[in-house]
This record gives sequence, structure tokens and C-alpha cells, in this order.
Amino acid sequence: MEKGEAEAPASHLITVTFRIRRFNPEIAEEPWWDDFTLDIDPKDRVLDALHQLKWEKDGTLTFRRSCAHGICGSDAMRINGRNRLACKTLIKDINPEKPITVEAIKGLTPLKDLVVDMDPFFQAYRDVMPFLVTTGNEPTRERHQSDEERARFDDTTKCILCAACTSSCPVFWNDGQYFGPAAIVNAHRFIFDSRDEAGEQRLEILNDRDGVWRCRTTFNCTDACPRGIEVTKAIQEVKKALITRRF
Ligand code: SF4
Ligand code: FES
Repeated sequence: MEKGEAEAPASHLITVTFRIRRFNPEIAEEPWWDDFTLDIDPKDRVLDALHQLKWEKDGTLTFRRSCAHGICGSDAMRINGRNRLACKTLIKDINPEKPITVEAIKGLTPLKDLVVDMDPFFQAYRDVMPFLVTTGNEPTRERHQSDEERARFDDTTKCILCAACTSSCPVFWNDGQYFGPAAIVNAHRFIFDSRDEAGEQRLEILNDRDGVWRCRTTFNCTDACPRGIEVTKAIQEVKKALITRRF
């Protein structure tokens, strides 16, 4: 190959344009879009593309990730207008023939590029008391629970706190005061746990004006959840428990 001649991509690679919404308050007040072209394996994930961009093209590109395997919940972002985990999204599944857009999740304050301020999200999570509450003497053996009792809240134990649901909710976008789907999912996980004794307390927390009644049942949250949790159903069950006080 002559010096300066572009190397042809390996046969299994395809050329893909990534259109990334950038933001850096030290450079500009407003966000802007940058286009990058990569030769990449269509079976690679969007996270692999972001790594390649950062390591080979622009070291300032900023995003969060940790486990890279759908466990830690740190790389939720809007990919082609839909909230997804970058580490669970294959290039071939999102029409690589057109530019792939990548943006930060909505409703939380952008800090830099794809990184947002997660503090309000985690504060709402903390506010619903996401831990087992029991009273009385310490048990002398494990707290028994039947299969049926365990199954009652199995779905909501799967949450990885990625915020894909909360940041896809139009109510949350509008004022950011709403607790949001993720906090309610995590309240559900304990409200319906037969061993827990703080269900009434959690229900009262969610009876607040910024609580569960703000949900407009748009199902965005259920569509966005990378864990397949029936988020809207969980919210409806909490609403019902508030009315019937049976859980
Ligand atoms: S409910 Fe699903 S989308 Fe929402 S934070 Fe948990 S894992 Fe993420
Ligand atoms: S990097 Fe951990 S869930 Fe994607």
C-alpha cells in the first residue's frame, strides 16, 4: 500500500457514522453535534464504538460505563432517540446505514457530553427507603418466605438503577420533581416483600404530590427498561395498594 493511501476496511467491517451530541460548559453554553466515521464490526456494541472513538479519535469524548455487561446501569443513553444501555445495543440492530445518534438521557442536568448529574435520581431512590425494615428482636434463623411471597416482587428486584425509565418519562422531563419510575419500582420491591414492615411508610411517601399519582401511564418507562421490568405495572400496583391499603 502506498504511503498516505487509506487502508481498506476488513471485509466484516462496515463504515458507520456516529452523530454525538456534545456538551462542554467550559467551551460553549450550548450543546452541539459532532459526526465521527468508524469502520466497525456490526456485531460490536455502541459502547465498543464509543471506546474506539475515545481511544482513537477524540480523547475528550466523555461518557460513563463500568461493567460493560448490562449489570452496573451506568451507560444509559439515548441512541437513535430511544433510551438504551450502550453496552447492550448491537450496531447491527439499530440501522447502521443511517447515522446513529447518541445523546445524554433527558430530564437530568447535563454535565459533559453523555454524562448527566444523577444526584436527583439517586435522592429519589434514597427517599423511598430502599432497604428491608423489620422490628423486634433479631431473628435466630433466616426469615422464611414462600415461593409465592417471593414471586410477588420478583420483577422489581431486577432493577440496576440505570435511569432509562425515569429519563424517558415526560412527567419527569417537565419538572424533575416527580419521584420517577425507578424510585417507585424500588419502593415496590420492598412494599410487597412479606418480611418488610415499612410498607405503609413508603406508601405515604409516594402519596405525596410528587409521588405515584403523577404517573400518566404512557408506558415509556416499560419500553425503556433494559431489564424487561414491567415498570408501569409496578407503578399501577403501588397506586392500587395506596387505595386498598392491601399489599
Ligand atoms: S426499572 Fe429498568 S429502566 Fe428503570 S432504573 Fe431499573 S433497570 Fe433501569
Ligand atoms: S456498562 Fe454497566 S450496564 Fe452498561
